[in-house]
This record gives sequence, C-alpha cells and structure tokens, in this order.
Amino acid sequence: MFKFLSRFGRDVGIDLGTSNTEIYLANRGIVVNEATLAAINNKTGQLVSFGNEAKKMIGRTPIHIDIVRPIVNGVISDFEATEAILKNFLKLAGEKDRFLQFRRAVVAIPANLTEVERKSVEDVVISAGVSRAYLIDQALAAALGARLPIHEPTANMIVDIGAGTTEIAIISMGGKVISKSLKIAGEKLNEDVIRFIRDEFRLIIGEPTAEDLKIQIGSAMPLTDKLEMVIQGRDNSNGLPKEVTVRDIHVRTAISKSLRTIVENIRSVIESAPPELSGDILKNGVFICGGTSMLRLLSEMISRELSVAVHLVDDPKTCVVRGTGVAVERFEEFKEVLTYPYAPRDIKV
Ligand SMILES: Nc1ncnc2c1ncn2[C@@H]1O[C@H](COP(=O)(O)OP(=O)(O)OP(=O)(O)O)[C@@H](O)[C@H]1O
Ligand SMILES: [Mg+2]
Repeated sequence: MFKFLSRFGRDVGIDLGTSNTEIYLANRGIVVNEATLAAINNKTGQLVSFGNEAKKMIGRTPIHIDIVRPIVNGVISDFEATEAILKNFLKLAGEKDRFLQFRRAVVAIPANLTEVERKSVEDVVISAGVSRAYLIDQALAAALGARLPIHEPTANMIVDIGAGTTEIAIISMGGKVISKSLKIAGEKLNEDVIRFIRDEFRLIIGEPTAEDLKIQIGSAMPLTDKLEMVIQGRDNSNGLPKEVTVRDIHVRTAISKSLRTIVENIRSVIESAPPELSGDILKNGVFICGGTSMLRLLSEMISRELSVAVHLVDDPKTCVVRGTGVAVERFEEFKEVLTYPYAPRDIKV
C-alpha cells in the first residue's frame, strides 16, 4: 500500500537551514520559505506557531511560550520541534491536498555532520511524512543551484555563508575535493553587533535589532554613501529605554573580525588545493551564496583580499534549495552525488 502510494507521490527538495527553511516542490518551484522557528507552550508542550509567525513573536512572548531554534549551526538540536515545524511546512507545500504523499526528499546538510546527526536528519524527514530521504552535501547543492558545471573536470569553488555555518568547498567532477565548514556566519555577526552596541553605547539590544542594523546599514568595506539608523534599546546603566543613532562604520567595525576569519578560511582552502585546481579557481573565480553573502561589498572585499574574481550567485538565499530541486527533479542524473539513502522499514524485504 505504502509502496503503491509512494510511487505516485510528489518529490521535494529541502534546505533545513539554521535560520530559514525552504522547500522546493518538483516541477513547481519554491513553495515554502519560512523561518526555522517554533513557538512552544512550555506548560503543555504544544506548538503555538511556527515559521515566520513565530519570528514575529521573538522578544514579545509571555513566560509560558518559548521560541525554539531547533537547528543550531546547521545541526538539529531539538528533534521534536524540528519534526513539528517540518510537518507543518510540508503541509504548506502540499497546499490543501491532505492526501498528498511525499515520495522522495533531497535534503541539504552541512559537510561535517556525524553519522548520528545525518541519521537524525533522515529520521526527522521520514517522521514528518516523506517516504524516502536522500542527503546532499550543502555545498554541492549550492553548486547545482548556481548551475555550476559540477561534473566537468574543472574545479569550482563555492562558499555558502548562511546563518549558522559557512561552507567552503572546491568541487570537481561531481565530488568535493576539499571542504571546510565554519561555525561563523550571519548569527555570529548579529552577536558581534549586540556586543559592540553594548560596549560602545551602553545599550542592550535584542537579536532582531542587531540583524536589522546588519542588513540595513552593515557593509564589509567603507561605503560611498554613509548610512545610519536610529535604534531603541535598554540603557545598560539605569535599565531605562534609550534611543541612539548607529552609523555604518559602527556595524562594520563590529563585524570585521568575523569577516576576516571567513576570508582567511577561504584563503586556506584555496592554498591547500593542488596547483591545477588553484589555476581553475583563478580562471573561474569564487562563487558565493547564502543570506550573508548579500552583505554590502562582501564579494568585493573577498575579491580584494584574495586577488580572485568573486561572483555573487543570483538569488543567493535560495541557491541551496534550488540545488536540492535540481537533484530531485533530475534524480537519475544526480543520484550518485546523494549519500545515505534511507530505506524505511516497510519497504525492506
Ligand atoms: N542583506 C543581507 N545582508 C547581510 N546579511 C543578510 C542579508 N539578508 C539576510 N542576511 C543574513 O543571512 C542569514 C540567513 O541566510 P540563509 O537563509 O542562507 O541561512 P540558513 O540557510 O538558514 O543557515 P545555514 O545555512 O547556516 O544553516 C541570516 O543570518 C541573515 O541575517
Ligand atoms: Mg543554508
């Protein structure tokens, strides 16, 4: 019965990211783009809201509601909450068709997950209602989403700078040659901004304000047009509400050390590549994607520091999920780059 249904089910690509989850429905496109968040009633354990609705509640919840970030640095840290929100996201993906079955999911995962962590991704996808889960390396998915010629005997470098992790990889002939996964990305930049504002202005701000500052006035290098933003927070000395004007140079100073660490890690991956591959990278340039790659002048800064062309992928935030979409739509062609297919118990003989 299950086998029969699964043959006619729909296929999906899933990017279960630290801050955003996207679902690509085969032959349709991206149908879900939501915050990876759950609002949970800590007395009853019930899911109160999820996704973008839960994001609106950050910092404003009564004490009986917790906002849970079930993925930390690309890894599932709360299985039940991940399962609950993924079920709801799949329901959204299936629109109003409650009989819709999901046959196959290709799920992007960070490079350095342990066996146990990989298994938990498979388990969560299966228990959220998909018959079979296949995992794809996040950097490979990003390369597919960026339409890089991954099967050709030329090396391409892709750097996905997301919220919880930065994935740096050199890909050639369908596989990764060298890669590195860093736990420094958008969320670390938000923390940097929170700390800087506290030290410089004696002002306590929450993560949403820090993220706003980063996106509205942040940059990796000095801007020609100066930017500023007025923010409200709590005065660190007397605890009262206070307003200050923050300028682009403040945000730039706050995040500069973390950005330098990202650049130095890209450099070390390039330096550890065999000379033929370095030559390819010099020729093809470095491709960057992920939400944080949209930071003003970041591609220019990386290019200047490393003396290599840097290309910002089109629609950088959805690059990985589009890659999972390519893999699931052209499954036969790409199945060799997928790892650890999970055989659910009811299909085993
Ligand atoms: N214009 C922008 N400038 C700078 N940062 C941005 C911008 N837009 C989004 N971001 C940051 O991008 C991050 C989200 O990116 P993305 O959706 O690629 O992450 P993710 O896939 O959820 O995380 P990960 O891949 O690390 O698990 C957030 O930290 C967000 O603050
Ligand atoms: Mg991501």
